[in-house]
Formats: sequence, structure tokens, C-alpha cells
Amino acid sequence: MSWNRKHLLDIQSLDVSEIETILDTARAFKAVGERAIKKVPALRGKTVVNLFIEPSTRTRISFELAALRLTADVINFTAEASSLKKGESLKDTAQNLEALNADIFIIRHSATGAPHFLSRFLRGSVINAGDGAHEHPTQALLDTFTIREHKGRFQGLNVTILGDILYSRVARSNIWALLKLGAHVTLCGPSTLVPRVFEEMGCRVVYDVDAAIENADVINLLRIQHERQRKTMFPSINEYTSLFGLSKARFARTKPDVLIMHPGPINRGVEINSEVADCERSVILEQVTNGLAVRMAVLFLVNGGKGPQELAH
Ligand code: CP
Repeated sequence: MSWNRKHLLDIQSLDVSEIETILDTARAFKAVGERAIKKVPALRGKTVVNLFIEPSTRTRISFELAALRLTADVINFTAEASSLKKGESLKDTAQNLEALNADIFIIRHSATGAPHFLSRFLRGSVINAGDGAHEHPTQALLDTFTIREHKGRFQGLNVTILGDILYSRVARSNIWALLKLGAHVTLCGPSTLVPRVFEEMGCRVVYDVDAAIENADVINLLRIQHERQRKTMFPSINEYTSLFGLSKARFARTKPDVLIMHPGPINRGVEINSEVADCERSVILEQVTNGLAVRMAVLFLVNGGKGPQELAH
């Protein structure tokens, strides 16, 4: 079990053993987080930059806390208060931060490929925290970590992703990870947001929500990503909720041990009924907790860590 990459840019290019190395390293860091002293010196003397050019609550804060738990110095770059507003380019911004000896850049950007672009000229490591509708690799890793904790396997597991798939980087990263790990992936939502082209990746595409959820071991709900949609994709929010929302009635027809997941932010009463979001089968807040361990693992590995064997003590 060994990791040899300097960057984490996507899930698509990872092999199964690399995904498993991250998940196993995250398990070791989760154990560290349960100790009285939760800090380790793995990144002492290193500087981590949170370069978020798009809004975020969970990802930015958990990367910040992960870096602090690893004893790194952290710079939180705020786009709104930066010289990006005066016309400075992303490349110049990043190179100025690197001139201050930053070692790891965590980037969220509305443009697909922004982290890949930075990785071509920065000397430090680059971690993709979400690029446009392309990928959100640490979200898929924390989702698979949470599924593995509850189900203990991926082989043959039925995972349904329900909602706006077309504009979702979370969906793409989850699809890559789950298929590589051996799960069956079903996608469901309005046909305008779930084109059949996803079948070419190896997913089942269905437009009948009851058929999509009846045999699901995991249901991962996605919000409508209005910020990325350039035209109206369905007649109304009310119609969307009535046709595709996870209501109490629909939830009652799912398997008794189904896991309900959502990457957040939730739009209660739209893609998910509020009582379903808070029910005992929901692991939505556990996903957030696991995100911290996964991001500690990713920071540790891109900084030269090899795997969980280095954290045995
Ligand atoms: N799941 C997720 O990426 O949430 P944030 O946008 O709040 O980071």
C-alpha cells in the first residue's frame, strides 16, 4: 500500500489501490481524531493555502481544520477581498502565494480544469476542492469512506444518485470512485439533468424514482445546482419535488437498512423531506465528520506520506 502522487486532481485517474490507500489512511486519521490530543506534527513547518474562488462551508472549513490538526500554517484566501477583483489573474495570484513559500494549494474554482492548470506550473502540491461541474474528489472519498464504514463492502452494492447529475462534480467523482470499487450505480432525475450519455460510463439511468430507489443500499441526493445551469431545465421546483424529491412516502418504500446521504448544502423540502434528512438512516452529518479524516489523509499523502502504515503509533 503506497502513494506516490504530488497532487490530487480527480478520481478518474486514480486506481483502486490508490483510492484504498486514501480510505485506509483516513481511517487511521479518524482514530487520531478520537484521541485526547488530536494533533499530529506531520505537516509542521508547511504552509497550506485555501484558495477558494467559489463559496464553500464544509470543504473549506474541513480542509482548514485538517491542516491545523496536522500542525501546518494555514492561509485562507478570500476571493472577494483579494486583488482578483482588480484584474489579477489566477496564475499570478497563485504564483504570488507560492513566493511566500506556500507548499500545498487547495483550490475550488467555477472553471473546469483550474486545479490541473495550476498544477502545471506551481512547485507545490495542488488539491482539487471542486472544479466547475467536473470533479470534487475529496467529496467522493468521504462519501465512499462513509459507505465503507456502514456497509463494509462496495462489491455488488446498489448506489442510487438522485438529482441534478449533469451539473454535479460530486456525481462525477462518486461515479468514478464507486464503479472502480465494484458498486452498481443508478442515476435518476429529470431527463434534462440525467442524459443517457452517463450509461457509457457504466451507470444505469432511470427516470422513474420509485424504480431507482426500491433496491438501493445507498441513496445519495443532490441539490439542483442553479448556479451552473444556463437555462431552465424543468418547469418548476414544485414539480421537481413532486416527481423526484425523497418524500416520506417514497422513503417508506426503501430498504430498511438504506443509507441516506447528501453532500450538502441541503435544500430541505426540495430534493429531500426534512424528516428524512434527519432520520436515523441519514448519515449526512457523519459525512461531514468523515470529511475531516479524509482531508487529513489527502494532505498527509500529497506531502510525501506513503500510507496508513506510517501512522501505526
Ligand atoms: N459538499 C460541499 O462541497 O459543500 P461546500 O460547498 O459547503 O464545501
